[in-house]
Amino acid sequence: MEITKKIGFIGAGQMAAALAKGFLMKAGLSQENLLASDAFEASREKFHAATGIDVTDDNIDVMKECDVVILSVKPQVLPDVLEEIADHVTQDHLIISICAGITLAKLQAGLGEDIRLVRVMPNTPCLVGQGAIAFCQSETVTQEDFEITCALLKSVGRCFHVGEHVMDAVTGLSGSGPAYVYLVIEALSDAGVMMGLPRDVATTLAAQTVRGAADMVLETREHPAVLKDRVTSPAGTTIAGMRQLEKCGVRAAMFEAVMAAANRSRELGKAD
Ligand SMILES: NC(=O)c1ccc[n+]([C@@H]2O[C@H](COP(=O)([O-])OP(=O)(O)OC[C@H]3O[C@@H](n4cnc5c(N)ncnc54)[C@H](OP(=O)(O)O)[C@@H]3O)[C@@H](O)[C@H]2O)c1
Repeated sequence: MEITKKIGFIGAGQMAAALAKGFLMKAGLSQENLLASDAFEASREKFHAATGIDVTDDNIDVMKECDVVILSVKPQVLPDVLEEIADHVTQDHLIISICAGITLAKLQAGLGEDIRLVRVMPNTPCLVGQGAIAFCQSETVTQEDFEITCALLKSVGRCFHVGEHVMDAVTGLSGSGPAYVYLVIEALSDAGVMMGLPRDVATTLAAQTVRGAADMVLETREHPAVLKDRVTSPAGTTIAGMRQLEKCGVRAAMFEAVMAAANRSRELGKAD
């Protein structure tokens, strides 16, 4: 879809820059369609250098000039930002929050019950255009808002529309998930070094193996168990390795990790 709306970011940090680059390269937006604001000069300069997009020091400029406003400050700063912009939010705005753990109810409490709101849970691979993203929305969101949100988010990864009740599960799986996978890559690399590989070769082999296996799942759409069975020949090397993984409880560890992170996300959401 062609996006003709003006899109603004409040908070011109890492995630805003990653989204902006995706919007420019893959969502068909031009610099003139975009604006950002940031309270800090160093952040403004960095964002402008990375994207070519104008950055103002006044968050209200973004509210006045943009139809879609993306709240991309750290969650701790968000209450102050909501207070600052509340009087400037109109029925014409679509507000998209990417702030981790901030619920629609909290956003509505700060900005008004009837505003059009989307809550997004991105993950760090958005920084390289490979995000795994879920979003939920308020009842006030229109079909056009929904389509704009999908078009924007798809420019930095794969996105799913979900109910807000599963946002903690999303946080536990794809939000925190990159850290689990980094740990797996590091462990595979260590094991390769242990068996005599140079570090850089071991790390690249491990990371490329994770990427290749992930692409196989996404591109073939085969069940992961089917793909696993195809590479485990009778009495072969892979089944010997699999036996050790099962003995060490890797499958159970993944359950525990995702459940612990989702529960922690739920706790943090209730805390304030
Ligand atoms: N990075 C990720 O992978 C990731 C993943 C999931 C969700 N998120 C969410 O994305 C949001 C942004 O994260 P990030 O990593 O991009 O953070 P970040 O790099 O720290 O970006 C936030 C930016 O907002 C600026 N800022 C602070 N107070 C402000 C104010 N009152 N008005 C305007 N701008 C202000 C910050 O300036 P200073 O740096 O000078 O303080 C910074 O440039 C967070 O809410 C986070 O929960 C991030």
